[in-house]
Amino acid sequence: MVRVPHHDSFFLGGLTKGRFLTIEMTFILLGLLMTDKKFSNQTAVITGAGQGIGFEIARQMAFNGASILINDINEELVKKAAERINSEGGNCIALAGDAADINFIQQMVDAAVQHFGKLTIAIANAGITLFGDFLTYPSESLQSVMNLNLQGSFFLAQKAARQIIKQQSGGSILFMSSVTGHQAHKNLAAYGMTKAALEMLAKSLVVELSPYHITVNTVAPGATLTERTLEDADYKNTWSRITPMGRPATVEDVASAALFLVSPDAGHITGQNLIVDGGWTAVSTSPY
Ligand SMILES: NC(=O)c1ccc[n+]([C@@H]2O[C@H](COP(=O)([O-])OP(=O)(O)OC[C@H]3O[C@@H](n4cnc5c(N)ncnc54)[C@H](O)[C@@H]3O)[C@@H](O)[C@H]2O)c1
Repeated sequence: MVRVPHHDSFFLGGLTKGRFLTIEMTFILLGLLMTDKKFSNQTAVITGAGQGIGFEIARQMAFNGASILINDINEELVKKAAERINSEGGNCIALAGDAADINFIQQMVDAAVQHFGKLTIAIANAGITLFGDFLTYPSESLQSVMNLNLQGSFFLAQKAARQIIKQQSGGSILFMSSVTGHQAHKNLAAYGMTKAALEMLAKSLVVELSPYHITVNTVAPGATLTERTLEDADYKNTWSRITPMGRPATVEDVASAALFLVSPDAGHITGQNLIVDGGWTAVSTSPY
């Protein structure tokens, strides 16, 4: 089982203040707790993790022992996110930059290796959703969606895989898909196309990366409550009405699936997609 922190938990924060623990006892206890964790000895890069789903994945992985480099294009957001994870006892660094930029992707991998000694997990979470009618969809929007969702994910996987192969450590790569990669969704042709492509990319990489003990999978969230989606005042009610389980996903729902797929528990699972949608794709009721 992957352990999940409560939002208000302050992991080990108070332990060192304990009146009855000597420094030696504290270190022994800390050592025991660290080795007990699912992601002890793992280091990860997660893109677009200043908020939303990526942040929750980072937070839960850090709580479960991973050292994490989180990225976001918004510098202030990503710094605050790393501070929060570290305040909960995590080991996290922030690197602001554009996760679609191939040179910057290499910098993220290098920075993770420089700080943590190696890289074993890469999560291409950053993705943008630019809605628009197909008949008038502008090429600039298509380019932006393709650059981040596809180019960014493709090259993060490539650069991370090269590093993992160099280390001979094995590892895991995870892409963030969407139910819109499975079911047609009004005004999301470009976005849905990129998400379907990521699932095929994961399957394709099975052939090339399995010999190096690297798993490649995708998570496909349905409607998920995040800072961004909650900007739409009707979002929660609309998706509660049309989702069989009666509510949209939370970031915790999606993070649980993501953690499983990059954990040792999923060591023999590769080229697969895990849908987290409260049953929505089974019925696919339109929100419009
Ligand atoms: N929220 C949902 O309902 C939902 C549903 C299905 C799939 N997804 C997918 O899950 C992933 C995360 O979704 P979310 O809603 O949590 O994300 P979000 O829209 O809240 O964005 C997360 C972060 O990505 C950052 N970002 C944007 N462009 C970037 C870039 N070029 N480089 C680096 N960072 C960048 C943003 O600043 C933001 O902090 C995305 O790939 C999204 O397509 C989300």
